[in-house]
Amino acid sequence: MSHPIINDLNARYTAKVYDPSKRVSSEDMQILLEAIRLSASSINSQPWKFIVIESDEAKQRFHDTFANKFQFNQHHAKAASHIILFANNPRFTKEDYKKVVDVEVSSGHLPAEMYDNMLNGGFTFAESNTDASGFNGNWTKAQTYIALGNTLHVLARLGIASTPMEGVDKELIGEIFAKELGGFECEFGLAIGYHKDGEDYNYGLPKARLPQEDVITVL
Ligand SMILES: Cc1cc2nc3c(=O)[nH]c(=O)nc-3n(C[C@H](O)[C@H](O)[C@H](O)COP(=O)(O)O)c2cc1C
Repeated sequence: MSHPIINDLNARYTAKVYDPSKRVSSEDMQILLEAIRLSASSINSQPWKFIVIESDEAKQRFHDTFANKFQFNQHHAKAASHIILFANNPRFTKEDYKKVVDVEVSSGHLPAEMYDNMLNGGFTFAESNTDASGFNGNWTKAQTYIALGNTLHVLARLGIASTPMEGVDKELIGEIFAKELGGFECEFGLAIGYHKDGEDYNYGLPKARLPQEDVITVL
């Protein structure tokens, strides 16, 4: 199939080796970060934070989080142009949701008289994903994966290479980026940049996906 969207999605791939001399432009970064902000989430909860690692100092800190495990991803910390840490709020509360409903009204998206309806009605959905201790991290983490999917698509359209990384140390990231995380948890990151010619063995390979008839049922 030939279509600009399909061509872009066939061209995007998981980079394995970055060219450290190539940087994503600040114009493309602005587009990317705005696209991330526009990601959809259940009940518009937006229970996330995105920590953008750009400076050498921050890259060193991210590099340090690989001290104990997942060293196969460590080299991206310094070679990639940027790393984005996707973090979720493990205890999303009604107070947190109020901020969203405030924006719903102030943006003109929700009539003011619907405020309580959305706050109480919407939050029952969060409650149904919250355990007795107040933990709803499985649900909030799922929202950050929606942002990841959106980000991968935008990167494909911008022609920027990327590496999603579940191979990161949640505990060490929690310690080394404690201040920035503010109680949120990070279980995956995304390296972005440009591949290194001749060394990135994943570059230019055909997509390896199951056939449509195995994964899609049209009724
Ligand atoms: C949530 C997620 C986590 C991933 N974690 C890693 C990782 O830690 N290291 C890595 O090199 N690739 C990682 N990958 C890349 C996948 O292996 C890759 O997306 C998959 O094989 C499909 O290949 P493609 O991205 O080149 O199309 C991850 C991908 C996703 C979506």
